Amino acid sequence: MSSNQSFFDPRLVGIDGAAFLDPAKLEEALLRLIPRAHISKGHFTYPSRAELRDLVWNHMDQNHRPFIHRTYGEAARLFIDPHASFSLTRYGRWPIAIPVFDGYFRENGFYQVMVLFGLLVVVNIIECNKGDDGTRMDVSWVVASHRWMRFLHPMLSRKFQRLNDVQNREDDPIRDRRVALRAANYRFATDAPDFLNSNAIGNNVEFPAFAGKHSISIKDLPEAVLHRTEVGDRAYILRRSGQQLEVWPGTCPHEGAMLGAGDVVGKLVRCPWHGLEFGPRRFGPGAGKATLCGALLEFSGDALTIGPV
Ligand code: FES
Ligand SMILES: [Fe+2]
Repeated sequence: MSSNQSFFDPRLVGIDGAAFLDPAKLEEALLRLIPRAHISKGHFTYPSRAELRDLVWNHMDQNHRPFIHRTYGEAARLFIDPHASFSLTRYGRWPIAIPVFDGYFRENGFYQVMVLFGLLVVVNIIECNKGDDGTRMDVSWVVASHRWMRFLHPMLSRKFQRLNDVQNREDDPIRDRRVALRAANYRFATDAPDFLNSNAIGNNVEFPAFAGKHSISIKDLPEAVLHRTEVGDRAYILRRSGQQLEVWPGTCPHEGAMLGAGDVVGKLVRCPWHGLEFGPRRFGPGAGKATLCGALLEFSGDALTIGPV
């Protein structure tokens, strides 16, 4: 069988039950797809302070994109499994859908494939790497089109440079927060990230054991004012109303975002990373207890005591 009759491409390379085109064969595959194509390439690199596993998770976590990055609009996620994800993304406010494929094709390495207006094929190869002085994101792209479209390539390349820079800067606070939480012995259900667990909405934070007991006097809290308090490596948002106390997590149990008084709207705290909302634990009047952020909260009427579960 000649190669142009074969739908099963032997140049696919396997990883954990999936297979992807060998990146070394990408250009050849694009030239078969678009005869006499114009092909251009670009590269971008961005240093990071995060661990590799958090860089990988941050890239695979697609739910943060519309919340953290202004460049993302609506997307319809049509498919996701541990290795790959396929979505249709709207081009700004225009009624134009761009198909986007994301694939985890080797350890710490991704394909991201887009087709712009049916005319320009863009294949990004995104790699999270570790060097002597920390980690970094390396992004290489290949753009293929009919040669009539070649005048668009330099403009696209500049746009990708800019986008990668802006988005990495916007992601830095997320990555830095993971660094800080890991230093305090936090772990995550996404410590071995894949597309599925990185996009599942659940309580993925594994809080470290809480040490000691700490008491907060209720009468010291001003009436009806939101107050963020840090107790050891835990944080809570408190609001007293007469004999009653409302308590929200100060660390998002999903993936660890810092939550503060400014994130509370009405009765709900809304997380800036993925938009999850949480109601408060309510205490009083009288005694009560609840577990929140992996610690035991005991309310006596006069004080809130935080201790191990
Ligand atoms: S970290 Fe995901 S919603 Fe808060
Ligand atoms: Fe991001």
